[in-house]
Amino acid sequence: MKALEVKNLSKKFGDLEVLKNVSFTLEEGEVLSIIGSSGGGKTTLLRCLNFLEKADEGEILVKGEDVYSAKAGEKPVITEEAQLRFGLVFQQFNLFPQYNVLDNLTLAVKLKEKNTPKEQIEEKAMELLKKVGLSEKAKNYPCQISGGQQQRVAIARALMLNPEILCFDEPTSALDPELTGEVLRVIRSLKSDNRTMIIVTHEMEFAKNVSDKVIFMADGVIEEMGEPNELFGSPKSPKLKAFLSRENFNQEI
Ligand SMILES: Nc1ncnc2c1ncn2[C@@H]1O[C@H](COP(=O)(O)OP(=O)(O)O)[C@@H](O)[C@H]1O
Ligand SMILES: [Mg+2]
Repeated sequence: MKALEVKNLSKKFGDLEVLKNVSFTLEEGEVLSIIGSSGGGKTTLLRCLNFLEKADEGEILVKGEDVYSAKAGEKPVITEEAQLRFGLVFQQFNLFPQYNVLDNLTLAVKLKEKNTPKEQIEEKAMELLKKVGLSEKAKNYPCQISGGQQQRVAIARALMLNPEILCFDEPTSALDPELTGEVLRVIRSLKSDNRTMIIVTHEMEFAKNVSDKVIFMADGVIEEMGEPNELFGSPKSPKLKAFLSRENFNQEI
């Protein structure tokens, strides 16, 4: 059974076509990396999958169930059930600065699951903090921990609602280079748990190693899609070749 099917997703901002007929599928437990130059539509795609934007046209299915369907000129419906199937970790962490780490994790669940005992929710939060190596920081505020730690808190927070598909939008690009490793290690550990994930990233080595599938996006289109060995080892599209040679150059300087 496919974990995710995205069919012909299109999105415009005014006259600008940001996503053009984007289609792909993911099996359960697969990790998909999306690479590409800035402005190519990667963030918009993740935002459409998390219903922070409404795609103008196309369909999204999770485990064979239609969770989103839009046709030109019609108003698509977004349900809470559909929203809960996806989680998103942002580039800038987006923690609530006025709440401590533990409260950042529990807030949404306490609002959603009014009948679940508070202690049970907090216990789950502490388990997830342990998983990301931050049990000691439960009572700290976001401003009291490093960027890498904040991003690990954001990952734990996304896991609180147990999304079927967890998305990351450049999870390490706001971090100093010495802090990226700890975040990438957490993401890698989620792959070992068989979690289905979509990761937009500029970390080419990481994408090569962690992904089952890679998509190269340019100008709102999937230019190339394949297994990491194919895509990085023998790129076909001229745009991907140019992109990879630039990325390699950047890594050397
Ligand atoms: N809310 C918005 N309103 C208008 N244009 C937008 C908006 N969000 C993104 N865009 C435009 O859509 C294009 C794709 O952006 P984005 O999805 O952020 O690309 P990427 O994440 O690949 O850098 C860019 O040209 C960007 O300026
Ligand atoms: Mg982006």
